[in-house]
Amino acid sequence: MRFTVAIDGPAAAGKGTIGRALAARFGFAHLDTGLLYRAVGVRGGDPVATARALMPDDLARDDLRTLEAGQAASRVAAIPEVRAALVDFQRRFARAEGGAVLDGRDIGTVICPQAEVKLYVTASPEVRAHRRWLEVGGDAARVLAEVIERDARDMGRADAPLKAAPDAVVLDTSVLPVDEAVARAVAVVEAALRRGASGA
Ligand code: CDP
Repeated sequence: MRFTVAIDGPAAAGKGTIGRALAARFGFAHLDTGLLYRAVGVRGGDPVATARALMPDDLARDDLRTLEAGQAASRVAAIPEVRAALVDFQRRFARAEGGAVLDGRDIGTVICPQAEVKLYVTASPEVRAHRRWLEVGGDAARVLAEVIERDARDMGRADAPLKAAPDAVVLDTSVLPVDEAVARAVAVVEAALRRGASGA
């Protein structure tokens, strides 16, 4: 079975939590595509050459989750040649046998516009910054400023800007507790699987 769940949304919105929960529930593979851009950003050097030579080991580094890595990722993610170098890997992952969940910024709009399920997970900047601060600590005002700056860059870039696909289901995790957001996402996937099974 080939079945793709595309999850997009701004920084620290809960995409990863929902993506991992869906993957576990349905037995799908999960790819956090932000790690690809983070890995390119932290490697330094020529980002286009780095993106073209990216290896699975690069995604296992333990310094990819820092604020600095997030900023470096969003800078290299604005370079069209970097994005182009990462497209095939993501599309292969998305259509691998057994189903896949990918979370990122452009999965439902550019990488997999035909995805069976598209979710757009969002929350207010304050809620998202608070969550990120719980993960990384440090100065809370700086974490909020970095989240806002990164979102502006991701939404404003010319190539594959962050935006909801017109047919995405929006989940706002500033008003939904995480288990409720996961339950809604599960219901959306189940409905799509039923439609697929009935050939509709
Ligand atoms: O975890 P968080 O939501 O903070 O960020 P991430 O998903 O790890 O993404 C880091 C950065 O990579 C984003 O700010 C984007 O600039 C970029 N990115 C992208 O352009 N396209 C994707 N599909 C995923 C991430």
